[in-house]
Amino acid sequence: MSQKENNLINQMKDIDGITIIDTKGTILFTVKFNPRFHSEIGEQDEIVGENLFSAFPMLDQKTSTLINVMRTGSPIFKERQEIIDFKGRKIATTNVSLPIKAHGKVIGAIELSKDISERDQELDHVIELNPEMFKNSKQLIQNIQPELAKYTLKDIMTNNEKMEKLKRSAEKIAQGISSVFIYGETGTGKELFAQALHNASERAGKPFITQNCAAIPETLIESILFGTKKGSFTGAEDNPGLFELAEGGTVFLDEMNSMPVHLQSKLLRVLQDGYIRRLGDKKIRKVDVRVIAASNKHPKDCVKDGSLRLDIYYRLCAMLLHIPPLRERKDDIKLLLEYFITKYNGLLGKNVRNVSKEVYAFLVEYNWPGNVRELEHLVEFAINQMDDWEDTLEMQHLEERLKHLIEHDEEEEEVQIEPMKAATARVEKKLITKAIQKTRGNVSQAAKLLDIPRQTLQNKLKSYGIVPKM
Ligand SMILES: Nc1ncnc2c1ncn2[C@@H]1O[C@H](COP(=O)(O)OP(=O)(O)OP(=O)(O)O)[C@@H](O)[C@H]1O
Ligand SMILES: [Mg+2]
Repeated sequence: MSQKENNLINQMKDIDGITIIDTKGTILFTVKFNPRFHSEIGEQDEIVGENLFSAFPMLDQKTSTLINVMRTGSPIFKERQEIIDFKGRKIATTNVSLPIKAHGKVIGAIELSKDISERDQELDHVIELNPEMFKNSKQLIQNIQPELAKYTLKDIMTNNEKMEKLKRSAEKIAQGISSVFIYGETGTGKELFAQALHNASERAGKPFITQNCAAIPETLIESILFGTKKGSFTGAEDNPGLFELAEGGTVFLDEMNSMPVHLQSKLLRVLQDGYIRRLGDKKIRKVDVRVIAASNKHPKDCVKDGSLRLDIYYRLCAMLLHIPPLRERKDDIKLLLEYFITKYNGLLGKNVRNVSKEVYAFLVEYNWPGNVRELEHLVEFAINQMDDWEDTLEMQHLEERLKHLIEHDEEEEEVQIEPMKAATARVEKKLITKAIQKTRGNVSQAAKLLDIPRQTLQNKLKSYGIVPKM
């Protein structure tokens, strides 16, 4: 394959369909990979064996790229081709068409297509945003500063074979261009891996921007991710979104399954073609950003429960990293313990050198629902309890914390008579605060615990002035 042909194919990045014809114009093979390519099961076979012009009546000898490449023997790249198929549906595609040659003779042609119909539809659709909401979004956008990722793969401490393997594959994946999906329980190191991936890639040194999709109201996510256009609605300014701010770098979408499904389709466009459109803007802009997404559920389960679109799943999960929970890699506990003790000795000016057998046995036995983060917090707490001269971490240093956790759970309410409304609000606020704490700021998970819709919880958080913290 020539350099030119290679370059053309690279431009396609993701392909949605392939068509092959012979010199007579008979369709020999056709395949569509993507459900959004308006394909119905079995339909592909219907046009195999047919002539190209009967399958696509609006094409002719002049306009068909497949016919043209056979005539000229050179490849064609077409940014946009509109066709109406035999069922009368309008489809817009970007195509690379290449002649197929044998012994120097053209024997057919192949076309690789990318469906851009959905992109077109979205451009016609003008979105109205509530100006009240926008006031907040402006503030939120202004607060966002491109960050640099600080963690590298070396900072991910492990003794565990599975984790070592994961680090090696992360190193390889980092070199590629595909999106990455990381899943693992809370505190397993998803953000650590996302940063390390960025730093191991050619994008190191460029922005790394994290957005937790559960931490902002649904109505604002779009303007934050994609930006806004001045004058498109009251109060609107020209503002770039995260994808523009991250140019050349990486956007880390945490709790991806909390992103509203209709916005996921907009994300699809960035993933497929690298295009974004600011809210209220007609213009589309090209961005060069790699997407890393994360969730604490397997993405397949997210698809099953309807929180992740299937097409997004295909695009994002080309590279899937699963970080095992700490209880499944107990061989990591000793190393992590040493690592965090060294860290907090340094930070808190202590001299811990040993850990009692009892403490160690407890740590190995415990099932770590909060994973590595929980271990780190426990070590920090214990070292804080210790005197400067103490060098051995004992059970007594942990007991306070464990007792505290238990007491907290059993805390009893003193019953007082008060107006029903105030009492209900007080209890509601307390429940919400607890749920938010328990899920470490994850609004979707908290909503599930409380068994109320996410948006209802968002509204309540706002009215009680509770700010979810990670
Ligand atoms: N292998 C590791 N080596 C060193 N530190 C780690 C490791 N894994 C996790 N940590 C520590 O645990 C903390 C939590 O990790 P991180 O924020 O990446 O978890 P997460 O999977 O994103 O959790 P959540 O789902 O709650 O957002 C980190 O700040 C880091 O200090
Ligand atoms: Mg995280």
